[in-house]
Amino acid sequence: MAHPSKRLVGKVAFITGAARGQGRAHVVRLASEGAHIVGVDLAGPLPGVPYDSATEDDLDETRRLVEEQGVEALLSRCDTRDLEGLKRAVADGVAALGRLDVVVANAGICIPETWDEVTPRSFQDVMDINVTGVWNTVTASAQHLIDGGGGSIVLISSLAGKKVQPFMVHYSTSKHALVGMSRAFAAELGQYDIRVNTVHPGAVNTPMGSGQMIARIEQTNEANPRLAGMGTTFLNRFSAEAEEISGVVAFLACDEASFVTAEEISVDGGTQHF
Ligand SMILES: NC(=O)c1ccc[n+]([C@@H]2O[C@H](COP(=O)([O-])OP(=O)(O)OC[C@H]3O[C@@H](n4cnc5c(N)ncnc54)[C@H](O)[C@@H]3O)[C@@H](O)[C@H]2O)c1
Repeated sequence: MAHPSKRLVGKVAFITGAARGQGRAHVVRLASEGAHIVGVDLAGPLPGVPYDSATEDDLDETRRLVEEQGVEALLSRCDTRDLEGLKRAVADGVAALGRLDVVVANAGICIPETWDEVTPRSFQDVMDINVTGVWNTVTASAQHLIDGGGGSIVLISSLAGKKVQPFMVHYSTSKHALVGMSRAFAAELGQYDIRVNTVHPGAVNTPMGSGQMIARIEQTNEANPRLAGMGTTFLNRFSAEAEEISGVVAFLACDEASFVTAEEISVDGGTQHF
């Protein structure tokens, strides 16, 4: 997809969940605009999900795609639930590349389950990754943004963080939590010229839809078919490509969004209002 210019030359961006899907698309887009990339991914088995997990090969492919853009790529395996590991990954990135300007907290998991199928384990897993993992990501990186004189933090929420993703009480809870987290960080970090915003994709074509994911969603829909239409868009497509989310992430990351903070931007074809 064509984009206007190289708006991030000399900047450094840190992205979680970089191995594939939207994370990879964000990495490639920010790199194509001139940013050097620090990225992490678990690149291994995800807890409780019905879709395929990312692999080290996926992370290697992201590295190749970044290097193709002529910028640096420091990608490593790290679980966002591991705060100390994240701190090391970010500190190593800043030591090698000199600064940090942009943070994209993108890593997340999604488990379709009706309300009475959710277990203490699955609820905890979703909170640990989708909420605590995002808090860890900001906590590991904010001081580096402050040291550099400011920056942009983008938290990847969801349609489920504005409206609801039916049959995902844990997921909807976690993605709503990111709105509060974003506003709270925006309030405190604003004095350092750090902007914090959430992006709310509707359905996106990524490997999150692989394996048994679609079958599980259809199965849970049967519990209450009235709710199955909640993902309907105003446009002629049901889902976005990952690059369409990346365009909004790149906008928030760069100076074109210099007075945008504590905002929640949907990229959902209108679904939130349907
Ligand atoms: N695909 C969709 O329809 C959709 C819609 C709205 C929001 N989202 C959100 O967008 C984000 C990206 O999703 P995607 O569609 O690219 O999914 P994906 O599963 O294709 O990619 C997610 C990546 O994050 C990594 N990851 C997951 N947990 C991790 C952890 N604890 N530590 C490090 N890495 C971890 C995975 O290994 C994977 O590479 C997620 O937060 C998701 O909730 C997705």
